[in-house]
Amino acid sequence: MLSDAPSQPASDALGGRRSPPAGGPARLLADVHADGTWTTLAEHRSRYSPPPAPKREPDDRIIDLVDEAGLRGRGGAGFPTGRKLRTVSQGRAPRIVIGNGTEGEPASAKDRLLMSRLPHLVIDGALLAAAAVGADRIGIGVERNNTEAVKAMRDALAERAEHEPLPISFRVAGTPPRYVGGEETGLVHWFNNGPAMPTFVPPRPFEKGVDGRPTLVQNVESLAHITQIVAHGPDWFREVGTAEEPGTALATVSGAVNRASVVEAAIGTPIGKIVESAGGSTARVGAMLLGGFFGTWVRGDAALAAPFSRAGLSPLNASPGAGIMCVLSEDACGLAETARILAWFAAESAGQCGPCLYGLADLARGAAGLSEATSAPSDLANLFLWAHEIEGRGACKHPDGAVRLLRSAATVFAEDWDRHARGERCRGQSAPPTIRVPVPPPVWR
Ligand SMILES: Cc1cc2nc3c(=O)[nH]c(=O)nc-3n(C[C@H](O)[C@H](O)[C@H](O)COP(=O)(O)O)c2cc1C
Ligand code: SF4
Repeated sequence: MLSDAPSQPASDALGGRRSPPAGGPARLLADVHADGTWTTLAEHRSRYSPPPAPKREPDDRIIDLVDEAGLRGRGGAGFPTGRKLRTVSQGRAPRIVIGNGTEGEPASAKDRLLMSRLPHLVIDGALLAAAAVGADRIGIGVERNNTEAVKAMRDALAERAEHEPLPISFRVAGTPPRYVGGEETGLVHWFNNGPAMPTFVPPRPFEKGVDGRPTLVQNVESLAHITQIVAHGPDWFREVGTAEEPGTALATVSGAVNRASVVEAAIGTPIGKIVESAGGSTARVGAMLLGGFFGTWVRGDAALAAPFSRAGLSPLNASPGAGIMCVLSEDACGLAETARILAWFAAESAGQCGPCLYGLADLARGAAGLSEATSAPSDLANLFLWAHEIEGRGACKHPDGAVRLLRSAATVFAEDWDRHARGERCRGQSAPPTIRVPVPPPVWR
């Protein structure tokens, strides 16, 4: 963890500096109101200067600040944000910025918290990203059922129109409730008036995105970090976190915890400490689902001791993803939870790639049979064969996520797996589900 770097004044040329949040890990969330209301423009402006108006020419000063800060995207893949800004800025002008606030991961709540409570932090980040790459248009995609976030973002834009007119076109769009609609090509496809389904790549959005223009797709938490980096400087950003993964990140903690919540933590913080911030676990921790439904199971003791970082979780074949961590109590059945999540994966297939459409349904059926201890031995042998056959064969990585989850379940719950395969039920099977799996929406194609 870094703690020795003094914070340097941020670029005065970009609007000067207000005092950064002091003490504690809360940086993004430092200004969240306890009463649930959102931070107004006047409050926001008491801390952050207005961003420069985007021009056709990219603003390299912003890209340099983000680069020096070492920010990595918070939407799941952890790609270096400065590098992405630079690549888009080098594309054909004018460019487009899309904020990804779709948050299709059922176990994630951090993006909706940010948008519904701190909309101006996200809006300023989008404007700064637009200035950085030389964009003439901004769109933010927010899942349309997430009404609180859609309303707060739109109200915040209306507040700007009155007090601080927006320098470029800025739209908040309600997107369809579909997990793969949050994958960047799916989101771009939807902004292009197509269905919210991933498209085969290349071209990737940075080459040819909305209206065929170079398009920057950035998670809304990443945008909020850009606002703080420009305001307080890269050295301030690097005061916490690790050298390779600086700063804080938002984690959504749920499952067998006393207070399911969104926690802001310095990257590298032990996961056990983050669970404590969510009121601690309600029972002995048997396993944790790290990175969400798109992540992996990790044994409880190993997960609690591991640092919340890509480097720290990599030896466990896990990743923080978009910061999701679900706690499974020791007496719950990990295979039953896995079977329910795989059923969700199958229902969420966009249905346009055969191996995903049929393969995920087979995986879900096989896992349900295993969980209920009703599988024939041949079904179990087939499970891994099917997994192998669908891996890497979709337009997007949706089926790969299901395969990864299944494989991690086979390792972490190996004893339960053998017991279920022998047709024995486990004691956890009658326990109520721990991980919240939403009822899949009706399939649309
Ligand atoms: C199936 C799938 C679903 C995704 N859903 C989201 C999402 O809900 N929100 C998000 O920000 N990124 C999501 N992503 C990642 C995006 O494709 C993209 O990498 C991200 O928005 C880039 O932003 P970042 O660099 O700031 O992380 C998803 C990716 C996949 C493969
Ligand atoms: S892999 Fe599945 S979810 Fe992804 S585009 Fe193809 S059908 Fe849709």
